[in-house]
Amino acid sequence: MYTSIKKAFRFLKRKTLFNNRSELVNFIIGSNEYETYLEIGCSKDKTFGSVLAKKKVGVDPQSGGTVRATSDEFFKKNREFFDIIFLDGLHHSVQLEKDVDNALKCLSANGTIVIHDANPLTEEAQQVPRKSKGGIWNGDVWKTIVALRTRADIDLAVGAFDYGCAVLIPRNNTDLLILNKDISDLTYSDLDKNRKKWLRLKSPSKLSRFMRNESN
Ligand SMILES: C[S@@+](CC[C@H](N)C(=O)[O-])C[C@H]1O[C@@H](n2cnc3c(N)ncnc32)[C@H](O)[C@@H]1O
Repeated sequence: MYTSIKKAFRFLKRKTLFNNRSELVNFIIGSNEYETYLEIGCSKDKTFGSVLAKKKVGVDPQSGGTVRATSDEFFKKNREFFDIIFLDGLHHSVQLEKDVDNALKCLSANGTIVIHDANPLTEEAQQVPRKSKGGIWNGDVWKTIVALRTRADIDLAVGAFDYGCAVLIPRNNTDLLILNKDISDLTYSDLDKNRKKWLRLKSPSKLSRFMRNESN
């Protein structure tokens, strides 16, 4: 089993592009030779089932993954470290802030955090609480992303695909965002006007260079 994962890693190392969250996660695992993966919010295991890692832990209170719990319950008990953590649980900025803080505490040295739904494309898609059950809902994940962009100890950029896949690396911020407004006062209209700069939106090839710390 592990031999075939190693072969897959060699393939992924040669692969340079990704266009969705699971391809991005697998690209990061392959290029860093990561072994341990944690996913928060697994639903039907669309991503969890396609990630190639030696050890996978998936947390969801309702379905999928390997641990039936909320992220708060899981992090309270967890004593393990993970090379890559994918945050895709409750899309409320208040909850995501907690998930990011907790994820940073159990991230391996040289680890990476990926956050889904960072780039909502309509005002309705980012409304909290969620208005209707159907359709795309990204929640206000973007507010946490903008707040993280103002931290000097975190480098973050967002892949402009699959509703925004943020890549967070604990290192000096190479493009610190200075905001003159409080995060809680930001509106969707503010995001729309400043989207590219605030989210640090990047194409797959530019995101790949960002991850290698080769460009802004
Ligand atoms: C958008 S879905 C996840 C999709 C999945 N990661 C994928 O890529 O296909 C969000 C999931 O988060 C779960 N969730 C909701 N609240 C949560 C919480 N507090 N902690 C962890 N997961 C939560 C939901 O049960 C739901 O399955």
